[in-house]
Amino acid sequence: MNIRTLLPVLLLLVLMGCTKDADQPKDDWTYDPTPYLLDYPDAFPIMQVNADNPMTEEGVNLGRRLYYDPLLHPTGQHACATCHIQEMAFTSSGSVLPHINLGWNKSFLWNGKITGTMEDIMRFEVEDFFQADMSRLEADSLYPRLYYEAFGSPHITSTYTAKALAQFFRTLISSNARYDEAFSPGSGEFPTEEEQNGYDIFFTEKGDCFHCHGGILFTDNGFHNNGLDVDPSTEGRSLVTGNPNDLGKFKSPTLRNIALTGPYMHDGRYETLEEVIDFYSEGLKLSPTIDPLMKQAHLGGIHLTTKEKSDLIAFLHTLTDTTFTTNPALGSPF
Ligand code: HEC
Ligand code: HEC
Repeated sequence: MNIRTLLPVLLLLVLMGCTKDADQPKDDWTYDPTPYLLDYPDAFPIMQVNADNPMTEEGVNLGRRLYYDPLLHPTGQHACATCHIQEMAFTSSGSVLPHINLGWNKSFLWNGKITGTMEDIMRFEVEDFFQADMSRLEADSLYPRLYYEAFGSPHITSTYTAKALAQFFRTLISSNARYDEAFSPGSGEFPTEEEQNGYDIFFTEKGDCFHCHGGILFTDNGFHNNGLDVDPSTEGRSLVTGNPNDLGKFKSPTLRNIALTGPYMHDGRYETLEEVIDFYSEGLKLSPTIDPLMKQAHLGGIHLTTKEKSDLIAFLHTLTDTTFTTNPALGSPF
């Protein structure tokens, strides 16, 4: 036998030698996942789900467990949920972005550094942000089985981890705020006079908010300089595109659950919604990249009266969805 014919045999022997117990599913493990049905109102756009990562009960449950488990972090210091807290619509302090309806998003992080699917952003979170060590999960007494039940493989990879997290993220749907009833004709619920006034300011040229925070998701998923600074930040969209026209542009966050997600803006500069509305009313700063939709910027803002400001805030409070922030299915499994 020459070396050419021997090589495949040697390779096979080496491979067989590598086959440890951990590579095989245990006899009592089963791979028979149950399809998970996403539930959201007809008024919402259709959520795209990656064909190679269908939603299953097993996948969603695994993703949820990983989200709350500090074991995912290489030092076990914190879990995703340490900074993304359910009662605050999955944000916490400072610049932490909330996790609300991200299944409809295509670009992620304040400057949109990651674009693509939910799987793409989860790979970034797992591999780059956490630099998660899969061997910690592999050594666990439970995880190999949970991965097998979700994906039919006992191997724990960052790809499967990202897929499981992506499945859980697609279930983080907030669609049951007071707004969804009070402003839906035929629901039997009605807005108060203040809420209706606030709605009118928000959705007309008076406040112009709807241009960037409009639609049923309350975001245009775009990037804008909303006039925070005379010297627009270099940390925003321009950091990603290298384009000086993008200085000071950040993603328009959804305003769903906005009363719960302070402090506000990419740097958390405003503690309260009152401060945010004062900013849009009389605190706008002109700069070369300010968005043309900030039409009253040359006047410093939209100049609301005290009553109009409190009406607008009353309207923003209708976007709070406590069924989302208290839903046990989205809470910690531990
Ligand atoms: C130490 C605090 C902290 C932890 C822990 C944390 N995050 Fe975040 N997360 C942030 C901050 C801060 C941002 C905003 C960063 C930015 O935009 O540059 C963010 C943003 C995000 C976003 C983007 C949201 C959007 O609207 O674009 C996603 C998705 C996300 N985190 C997922 C996760 C996942 C998954 C984990 C666990 C693997 C995790 N985070 C752990 C602080 C944290
Ligand atoms: C030209 C687009 C645009 C318009 C118009 C606009 N916004 Fe914004 N809004 C943004 C962007 C972009 C941010 C994030 C800016 C940042 O952090 O640098 C933001 C941030 C916010 C925040 C803080 C969100 C958070 O999670 O930190 C609130 C609240 C808000 N806007 C409310 C409003 C209201 C109310 C109006 C109308 C009076 C309005 N916006 C008009 C683009 C806009």
